[in-house]
Amino acid sequence: MLTQLQTEQLRIDYLQPLENTKELKNSFGHDIKEGLNQSQKKIPSKYFYDDYGSQLFEQICELPEYYPTQTEADILRKYAEEIAKITGICELVELGSGSSTKTRLLLDAYNQKNQVFKYMPIDVSAGILRESAIQLKQDYSSLQIQGLVGTYDQALTQLESTSWPVRMIFFLGSSIGNFSEIDYEKFLTKISQVLENGDYFLLGIDLQKPKSILEAAYNDSQGVTAAFNLNILTHLNHKFDGNFDINCFNHQAIYNEKTQQIEMYLISQKPQEITLKSLEFKVKLKEGEKILTEISRKFDVEKTQHHLASTQLNPVKVFTDKNNWFALILCQASK
Ligand code: AVJ
Repeated sequence: MLTQLQTEQLRIDYLQPLENTKELKNSFGHDIKEGLNQSQKKIPSKYFYDDYGSQLFEQICELPEYYPTQTEADILRKYAEEIAKITGICELVELGSGSSTKTRLLLDAYNQKNQVFKYMPIDVSAGILRESAIQLKQDYSSLQIQGLVGTYDQALTQLESTSWPVRMIFFLGSSIGNFSEIDYEKFLTKISQVLENGDYFLLGIDLQKPKSILEAAYNDSQGVTAAFNLNILTHLNHKFDGNFDINCFNHQAIYNEKTQQIEMYLISQKPQEITLKSLEFKVKLKEGEKILTEISRKFDVEKTQHHLASTQLNPVKVFTDKNNWFALILCQASK
C-alpha cells in the first residue's frame, strides 16, 4: 500500500521530441552537424549533461573559485521564506534541476507550511533526475514529485496546464546565461506564454564583475572545469559513435568584456579529422582551432528587469547578496 502511494506521488516521465520539429532533427544530431560546419565551430552546451557531465558539474559547484552556486544558495537561505510567503502554496516547476541541492532551500520554506505541494524537476540527465527525486521523496513526505526528462524546449511546449491555483517556474544558477541574445528572448517569451496570469517566474542571474574573478571561476586550479568541458567530446563519442581523442584538445575559458560573456573553448592541439560515424559526418580541425562549447553571459539587474517586464513577466522583487555578485528576480505574469 505504501509502495503504491509512493509510486503515485513520485513519477518520472520521459518527454519525446514532437514530430516535424527542430527538436526531432536535433535528436538525430542535426544541431551537432550544423554547429561543426560553421566557420566558428560550436557544440551546443546541452551536450555537457550526460550523467557523468552532470556529476562533474556538481563538483564544479563545490569549487572555491566557482562562486555562483554558493552565492545563490546564500540568497535562497536568506529569502526563500519571503519568496514562499509572496507566492503562497504553489506548484513548483524547475528547469534544469540537476541534483536539486539548492532547491531544497526553497522546498524547506514551502514545507514549513506543512501542506501537500508539488514539485516538477525537469532535466536532460535521467540518472541525476531519478536519484534526486527518490531522495527528495524520502526527505519531504508531503511532496508530490513528477519529474520530466527532456530539454527545456520539450518541457515548455509539452507542460500541461496545472490543476494547482498557482505555478512558479524557476530557473536557477544563471543557466539562462548559456543562451544567445536571440534564444534568451525566445525563451522568456515562451515562459510568459506558458504561465497564466498571476503565476510566478523565479530567475537566477550571475552579474557582471571583474574579469579576474570570472576567469578564475571558469579555469579552476583543480581542472574540474577542463574535465567538464572535455567530457562533451566523450559524450558525443558515445552518442554518435565518434572518435574525438580528448588528449588532443585543451580547455580554455575567457571573459569577453565587450559582450560581457564567458566563452569556453576546446582547442585542437594538432590538425585532425573527426568522424561521427552514426551521423555519417566528418570534420577537419586545424592546429589551434577552437570549438566554442559554451557562452555564459553576465547580467545587469536593471536591464534584465526591464527585459522581463517587456515580456509581461513583471518583477515583484529582486534578491541579491552583499557583493552584488548574483541576483534572483521574482516575477509575476501579468497579461
Ligand atoms: C550551469 C550554465 C550556469 O555557465 O556557469 C560552469 C555551467 N560551465 N562552469 C555556467 C558551467 C563551466 C554553468 N551553468
